[in-house]
Amino acid sequence: MAKIDPCTIVIFGATGNLSRVKLMPALYELEKGGRLPDGVTILAFGRRPWSEDEWQAEVVSMLDAKYPDGYDQAAFKRFSAKLRYFQGDLTDSASFKALSEKISDDPNCSPNAQFYMSIRPAEFGTVIEKLGEHGLLDESHGWRRVVIEKPFGYDLLSAQSLQSALNKYLNESQIYRIDHYLGKSTVRNILVFRFANLLLEPLWNRNYIDHVQITHSETIGIGSRADYYDGAGAMRDMIQSHLMQLFALVAMEPPAGMDDESLRDEKVKVLKSVRPIPQNAVHAHAFRGQYSGGNIAGESVLGYREEEGVPEGSTTETYAALKLYVDNWRWKGVPFYLRTGKRMAEASSAICIRFKRPPQHLFRGAKIDQLQPNWLLLGIQPNDCLKLEINVKEQGTSMKTRLLSLDASYHDDDSKPGDAYEDLLLDVMRGDHSLFLRYDEVEWAWRVVDPILKVWSMERDFINTYPAGSWGPRGTYRLFENDDQFWRHSLGIGGSDVGSEVF
Ligand code: BG6
Repeated sequence: MAKIDPCTIVIFGATGNLSRVKLMPALYELEKGGRLPDGVTILAFGRRPWSEDEWQAEVVSMLDAKYPDGYDQAAFKRFSAKLRYFQGDLTDSASFKALSEKISDDPNCSPNAQFYMSIRPAEFGTVIEKLGEHGLLDESHGWRRVVIEKPFGYDLLSAQSLQSALNKYLNESQIYRIDHYLGKSTVRNILVFRFANLLLEPLWNRNYIDHVQITHSETIGIGSRADYYDGAGAMRDMIQSHLMQLFALVAMEPPAGMDDESLRDEKVKVLKSVRPIPQNAVHAHAFRGQYSGGNIAGESVLGYREEEGVPEGSTTETYAALKLYVDNWRWKGVPFYLRTGKRMAEASSAICIRFKRPPQHLFRGAKIDQLQPNWLLLGIQPNDCLKLEINVKEQGTSMKTRLLSLDASYHDDDSKPGDAYEDLLLDVMRGDHSLFLRYDEVEWAWRVVDPILKVWSMERDFINTYPAGSWGPRGTYRLFENDDQFWRHSLGIGGSDVGSEVF
């Protein structure tokens, strides 16, 4: 594994939601685990006229919120020694000039620098231009890397123009387009699961797989993110990025090697093979909805349009479902269903693969008409797990069957996987791109969803709703190709929660 150099981590948007909830806690965890090398300085770039002490107090409030039961004070002491504050304005050239001087003159700042864009997507271009103009992206004295959060662009066209703006100042090797899903341990395990086992490969195709479902559901609403979310919606926020990545890992061909380029080549290949959705077929392939008021865990919650900052009458989707076909030899004719929603009944992410039924129902005469098809279930969160559902005969003389779930949960109960951001932040310091997106992946993912977004943007007078705390809007079942396909809401064995609901 490549060694980790000392570096300066400059965080733009250090007081924002992402930094608060993910970045600062991840950096603290790295320090606690002794994984943050000496010589790392974390420089928060912010507008407020704060002293170092005020910034430290702010970080304490972030960690207090993240760890209500407390955290390791000795680790925090070491961590706080690495924290610095830099007052600046994203739109002001003088701030970037001063930043450049700070990095070259301050002995605490290594000339290797990672610039983290934890800011609004509309600001990416300007900040990179300013960094470029003030020589901050010049690698003559140390490496300079830029981490860009999603969404990369707003649609295909804006992604292309953002990319050409980046090309003026950066080489592709300096750009880390982050998709934190790729840092989740189960997501990475998809590769091991598929390519380190011979058993599955012969079944992993159109001859045996009926369909694939990829779901990310959340119980939380949009919180204080209306400003960003109302312009994005669920399709851009989750499907174009995270769920398309999961889809690519499930559907791609074996890579030539596990290096970053080989992996990304295969992801691009499968994204290119997705059958384009013409605008007149959008309604057959995609469904959107918006949460109305309802109940989550016994508490009544507001509908999307009542949330603070959401414009009146907004038709932004908080639920999106999509059916894709991959026109290649492996997958021709197999539907992939992707869905996501906020304020849903449960918070979970999973990939559920349903196999075809056996070619002949040998047991029908023996009244075994409830034979269930096999499912392979990859739970991503809240628990990462791997389950296989198979039919077995019940004990006794009658030919009664039941569904059995082979549960291959693969880590100890007390080993909690670290947050995805921890590993990804270290990967940037190591210069490892394998879990980051190459531009062509992003572009092909936009090509898949662009026609849908275009149609939805024209249909602004109506959106289906679903009550907060439900499994999404009625009507989404119409995406299914066959009557015996249904959304799988839980990884629990067969039973009531499988097939009992069609929406
Ligand atoms: C983010 C989205 O990228 O991912 C959020 O902007 C979403 O809307 C989040 O809640 C989900 O990530 P995780 O890691 O909590 O599943």
